[in-house]
Amino acid sequence: MVNYKGKTALVTGASGGIGKTYAKELASRGSHVILVARSDDKLNALADELALKYKVDTYVLPLDLSEADSVDELAERIKKLGLDVDILINNAGFGTHGRFETISIDREQEMIRLNISTLVGLTHQFLPYMQQQREGIIVNLASVASFQPLAYMATYAATKAFVLSFSEALYAENRHLGVRVLALCPGTTKTSFFDVMGTTDMPGGIKGTPESVVKTGFKGIEKNRSYIVDGANNYWVAQASRFMTRKAMAIIGERVTRPSK
Ligand SMILES: NC(=O)c1ccc[n+]([C@@H]2O[C@H](COP(=O)([O-])OP(=O)(O)OC[C@H]3O[C@@H](n4cnc5c(N)ncnc54)[C@H](OP(=O)(O)O)[C@@H]3O)[C@@H](O)[C@H]2O)c1
Repeated sequence: MVNYKGKTALVTGASGGIGKTYAKELASRGSHVILVARSDDKLNALADELALKYKVDTYVLPLDLSEADSVDELAERIKKLGLDVDILINNAGFGTHGRFETISIDREQEMIRLNISTLVGLTHQFLPYMQQQREGIIVNLASVASFQPLAYMATYAATKAFVLSFSEALYAENRHLGVRVLALCPGTTKTSFFDVMGTTDMPGGIKGTPESVVKTGFKGIEKNRSYIVDGANNYWVAQASRFMTRKAMAIIGERVTRPSK
């Protein structure tokens, strides 16, 4: 059994979608929550709701996590509050879509900073305390896109491949130190993600729910898994790369993900 009660959880990207659902589920299990995203109005509304409903402590730290100094800034604010982080949900992220050369390079670099650099920085910041306690949880939001290259989402899929690889390595490093590290891999999920990305033209449609993704995340931690995929169909999509050459996977993938217009 994993104990969530009285622990302090840092959830990035808690203003909506999967992160908001994660914060709710953690609070319902008795965790105090530190909520981070840019939309302070949404974070404040969620903090009030969770404090009232679950009688947990809630902290709102609005921050743009794609800024280079955001990890230091967040660590400093958490220190000033006198808090330690027992549970880290590295969820904040976004995707881009289109032929690579047509996407703004500034936007691609911003995504790499948020999806990779900040995730690595926060893990580096908070892991040592968990190791000292010989207890801790880190959930990193990867994707089914982690398992193969994705044409028209080339940089996004590469960031998620990084997250999967990084998380699995840290799972192995920490498995005897009491710290559970999980790569949580959703398929397409009904959140603001595709509005931010600028397309809803996804092969197979957008099917999953944040509730299902978060439930799968808790299951992955309970079972002490290194990665977990949300949904049986998504699991088989993720495994397809084992049965094809990498070249075939990339080419077939391009046919599947090619925009319909
Ligand atoms: N939805 C899917 O189909 C899907 C599939 C696989 C993986 N994922 C992954 O799941 C994670 C959550 O995505 P979601 O579907 O819940 O998307 P979402 O509804 O768009 O939520 C993204 C969250 O990240 C926050 N965020 C974005 N940019 C930020 C920044 N610069 N600084 C701080 N916070 C920022 C957003 O808050 P603010 O805008 O208020 O800052 C929001 O809370 C992402 O890592 C995504 O890659 C999603």
